[in-house]
Amino acid sequence: MPRRLTAFTPSGDLHLGNYFGAIEPLVRAQVPGETFVFVSDLHALTLPHDPAEVRTRTTEFARLLLACGVDPARSLFAVQSHVPEHTELHYLLECATGFGEARRMIQFKEKSARGQRVRLSLLTYPILMAADILLYDTEEVPVGEDQRQHVELARDLAVRFNADYGPVFTVPRAVNPPVAARIKDLATPAAKMSKSVSPAGALRLLDPPDVLRRKVMRATTDTGDAVTHDPVARPGVANLLTILSACTGVTPEAAAETFGGYGELKRAVADAVIAVLEPIQRRYAELAAADPSELLGSGAAAARRVARPKVRAARAAIGLLDYAETPGICPIA
Ligand code: ADP
Ligand code: TRP
Repeated sequence: MPRRLTAFTPSGDLHLGNYFGAIEPLVRAQVPGETFVFVSDLHALTLPHDPAEVRTRTTEFARLLLACGVDPARSLFAVQSHVPEHTELHYLLECATGFGEARRMIQFKEKSARGQRVRLSLLTYPILMAADILLYDTEEVPVGEDQRQHVELARDLAVRFNADYGPVFTVPRAVNPPVAARIKDLATPAAKMSKSVSPAGALRLLDPPDVLRRKVMRATTDTGDAVTHDPVARPGVANLLTILSACTGVTPEAAAETFGGYGELKRAVADAVIAVLEPIQRRYAELAAADPSELLGSGAAAARRVARPKVRAARAAIGLLDYAETPGICPIA
């Protein structure tokens, strides 16, 4: 079983795109010692943020990921900022990254175009993401299509670092789910469903069933009324079929043949989404009073046991004096 790692940034609310793009593929195959899940709180600091909200959401995300099936007995589950090796390796990898290479990232271009006071960390966040991935000898990174370019950067950095300084890192690759790598916004099917863009178009994992149903019934469809899977000519309908397919396992093309009209399709999509999310919402409610800090603390300790030797190898390879060999210097094992 390949070693797999993914992370979720505690900004906005988790939605069905996050679930089918990355959560479900990870949760489906958790193998002790080989599956790593992080709440990437440091990434939440790249856009204007409220400190108290980041803290609250970090805990909420942890609970919701547990409710979605992250199993601490089979996955290493931790908060990114509890493992200082992530930021330590981030700097070393920055020293192996070109400015032009970072500036080319599509997410940076899109997100920096939206705000006025763009933080430098928005530019460098894919390098922190590369550190998240490379610290643990990750082979596969389950992500949605939008994160593929970032995983490719991690790949390029691993290859370059190994070539320039010696074989330290495993070269990772992105794995996208077969049908739901890019679920679209229900109100604006040209855009991807996203945590922050449109509340009417995103099916949030914690939206009550009646809200989910209302959003699906109001989803933008296309002119005409035949249900066919044609993402170019009928993106709204194709998106509903994709969601149905992700929920039920039937292909979008096969699903299309079973509906006479849009109303019928939408009712089936709403039923299918509710059937997937209701058990998650129930487990989340059960966990409402649970304090995940102890669990996350032991996750961080386990993560450091893997991450520390990797950072030490990267430090030595890039030219830093090893503290173990330097008398009088704090011996961080
Ligand atoms: P968002 O863009 O909504 O803020 P993130 O960038 O935090 O979400 O994404 C968390 C994970 O969910 C990433 O692996 C990302 O690729 C995946 N993801 C996000 N949106 C979608 C979507 N609409 N369809 C499929 N996967 C998605
Ligand atoms: N950058 C991702 C996002 O914004 C989250 C993330 C951080 C991540 N570190 C990662 C995803 C490592 C996969 C692997 O959603």
